[in-house]
Amino acid sequence: MKILVFGSLNIDRRYTVDHFVMPGETLSSQALGTFSGGKGLNQAIACKKAGSDVYMAGKIGTDGAFLLGELKDADVVTKHVFIDEDEFSGHAIIQVDKNGQNCIILYGGTNRTITQAEVDEVLADFEAGDILLLQNEINAMDYIIDKASEKGMLIALNPSPMDDELLKCDLSKVTYFIMNEIEAAAIAGSEDPDKAIEVLHEKYPHSKIVVTLGGDGSKYFDGERTYQHGIYSVKAVDTTAAGDTFTGYFLNGILEGMQPLEIMSMAAKASAIAVSRPGAADSIPTKDEVMATALELK
Ligand code: RIB
Repeated sequence: MKILVFGSLNIDRRYTVDHFVMPGETLSSQALGTFSGGKGLNQAIACKKAGSDVYMAGKIGTDGAFLLGELKDADVVTKHVFIDEDEFSGHAIIQVDKNGQNCIILYGGTNRTITQAEVDEVLADFEAGDILLLQNEINAMDYIIDKASEKGMLIALNPSPMDDELLKCDLSKVTYFIMNEIEAAAIAGSEDPDKAIEVLHEKYPHSKIVVTLGGDGSKYFDGERTYQHGIYSVKAVDTTAAGDTFTGYFLNGILEGMQPLEIMSMAAKASAIAVSRPGAADSIPTKDEVMATALELK
């Protein structure tokens, strides 16, 4: 079974700062690093490092060649990544503060110039039963969801960043929602994660729902019952791509037929390791590293 990640590829510019810049403030940064990122690229690499067979679809500009290199080095299939000669690649301006927390400004660039003809070309190579993993950093989301569903692909959605356009898509076609508590609240209209899961189950009775809760771990409703798992203790260096790492490892665990709590533990451990390192895609550990690292539950 193949995983197609149709999503963003970003050039991440990561500024190390004492605190996030405030309104009207000019702030000097302590360091600047350029990394491969984008929720699509990060999740493709996370799925691959977890052990899945992964194909990436999306679009870059001529300035984004190193993003393709990063995917190829990770053995992700890149034949469905288009190149737009007339637009810059997507990029992210990321501030990381002394506690390792981040805030991000996105410029969509080529991530937002995907045409319906390109979507058709990509999906022609996939079939019923293949998995489509989406985030919300590209255009044409409604078209991609509808066409993939018509083909019988299973859709997993990480609805990040959440916006009104996404809520207009037919989300009843999504089999797996993997999201944080803020995104769950936006779709379900409740800030209580258990209530949000209940509402989402009523709205989308065929979907399985994962809600990550920051320091409180995660909840997973598999259609019958809700499981809960905590997070692992690490010193946070950079939280960028922690959610992407969790998503990739979670989905791979599902495909491998692992038990819910085993999947949640593996995903939590992989994302804890990612948090203990700088960068986005570069910070994602391999499955061997995850297995070999002993961490304590918080
Ligand atoms: O989830 C982290 C990612 O969000 C970063 O790599 C950045 O590119 C933004 O897409």
